Amino acid sequence: MEQVVFAVDRKRAIAAFDAYTADYDRTDEKINLKVDHTYRVAALSERIGRSIGLEGQALDLAWTIGLLHDVGRFEQLRRYGTFVDADSIDHAQFGADILFRDGEIANYLADDTPKEILQLIETAVRSHSLYRIAEDMDERTRTYCHILRDADKIDIMRVNVDVPLEAIYNTTTQALKNSEVSEEVLASFSEEHATLRSLKKTPVDYVAGHISLVFELVYPISVRIVSEQGYLDKLLHFESDCEKTREQFAWMRARVQAYMERRMAKSCPAPVHRNDLSGQIIGRIGKL
Ligand SMILES: [Fe+2]
Repeated sequence: MEQVVFAVDRKRAIAAFDAYTADYDRTDEKINLKVDHTYRVAALSERIGRSIGLEGQALDLAWTIGLLHDVGRFEQLRRYGTFVDADSIDHAQFGADILFRDGEIANYLADDTPKEILQLIETAVRSHSLYRIAEDMDERTRTYCHILRDADKIDIMRVNVDVPLEAIYNTTTQALKNSEVSEEVLASFSEEHATLRSLKKTPVDYVAGHISLVFELVYPISVRIVSEQGYLDKLLHFESDCEKTREQFAWMRARVQAYMERRMAKSCPAPVHRNDLSGQIIGRIGKL
């Protein structure tokens, strides 16, 4: 990867984020949810970046993009009272506009930050909630987009467990527990794709849709983190009152388990033996 010339003062960036969010109602659980999500996504971006060999300024850049990615959420909630983009505004574009058109980015980064770095950050923020990122990106920008999108997806799974599903999907427990997964959603699931929004029709389709995000994770470490955290597993154990839905979830569990094992096996080759000078096996070594 090309050399990145980028300096970030993390303390200054955190202070800028805290000052920005202090203008919003910090007694509102939804605001705090996004503040916490932001810091976790920044940390996850750093962990993913490190797993692919980024270090120093290149790693700082991954962290910074994580910190900036959801800046649009706060004003979205204040103006529209919802995080649902379809009912309000595209929060990714909105956040990028706040940072790069209104100039909020100046509070986070030094004035001499190279233009190409600013462009890269803007593209990553604008693209983070798209179903697919644009084809015509340079390799470095694409990498940072992938890091952010993986980190965001990993944490969305956590939010879906920490926050009641009824609140996230704007529905009732009864509706959730009595609905079935639509055939189209299952078909897309069997192709190992994230579920398109347009396919989701029933309340429980949204649960299946969030589970399907695992299929879009780009980096092996991301699949490993999802497995470690256990939130996906909790989503997969959604308890429906409907017999057919229980069967559908059992099927999804098996599919996801097979998929994750496949992905993790690729990232973690079988350990090889380590020999001493005489050829005696003295231990095993493995990547990761
Ligand atoms: Fe977002």
